[in-house]
Amino acid sequence: MKDTILQLDNLEMGFGGLKLFSDINISVEKGEILGIIGTNGSGKTTLFNIICGIYTPLSGKVVYKGEDITGIAPHQIARKGIGRCFQMVVPFESMTPLENIKVARANAGKSCKGPEFSIEEILELTNLTDKKDITTNNLSLPDKKNVEIARALACNPEIILFDEVSCGLAGEEIRERMALMKKLAEKGITIIVIEHIMVFIKEICDRVVVLHAGSLIAEGTPDEIIHNEKVIDAYLGGREL
Ligand SMILES: Nc1ncnc2c1ncn2[C@@H]1O[C@H](COP(=O)(O)OP(=O)(O)OP(=O)(O)O)[C@@H](O)[C@H]1O
Ligand SMILES: [Mg+2]
Repeated sequence: MKDTILQLDNLEMGFGGLKLFSDINISVEKGEILGIIGTNGSGKTTLFNIICGIYTPLSGKVVYKGEDITGIAPHQIARKGIGRCFQMVVPFESMTPLENIKVARANAGKSCKGPEFSIEEILELTNLTDKKDITTNNLSLPDKKNVEIARALACNPEIILFDEVSCGLAGEEIRERMALMKKLAEKGITIIVIEHIMVFIKEICDRVVVLHAGSLIAEGTPDEIIHNEKVIDAYLGGREL
């Protein structure tokens, strides 16, 4: 039986009179890992910004657990259980990973129903136990990205949005990210992931949607998407994936 946790209903968005996308309908099921792919500038990050309340869509609705949350302030949406990891890393650089987690936890909503990890568990999951007292400023990029994930986890989210968290990372670090996302999904957290790396999408996603030239052009399993002609044509300029 379907158990929809998040629904994007007929979303339309644009900036300064230019339409970016319209007719975006996506249903996200509880516990799944949904991938969003698409060319640069197709509006993937904008979609996340709409879900998180940073942007209000021109029309359409974001429905989370049956509640219309369109246009609600970002901090309220976070407290309802939607966590986010940004494309550009934005942890508090002057704080240690441990402090970052504590601050995030202090601001977390009490009503979130996501799995509640202890601070030790979060450090362990994100490979930061040994680095918990080093100022984030002095950590490597992969570790800073881990601090981002740790901060999101500290809020006990039911959904986490990952925006290209493997960007700029090497093989082993990417594999670590994939393992972490799978582990979080096993614990019942719903995951939406924007990624350019197809191996990543193929390995971890249950389902993928493709955003291109203002609309969703395909939806299916990673395998279906990889062999979808529209996708090969539009997204990869006709080359095989
Ligand atoms: N606040 C804004 N004001 C004006 N234009 C914007 C704004 N935010 C995004 N855009 C534009 O909307 C388009 C989509 O941007 P977005 O960042 O959502 O793309 P993306 O699919 O995430 O791309 P990438 O793969 O490069 O991360 C771009 O042309 C971008 O310049
Ligand atoms: Mg983006």
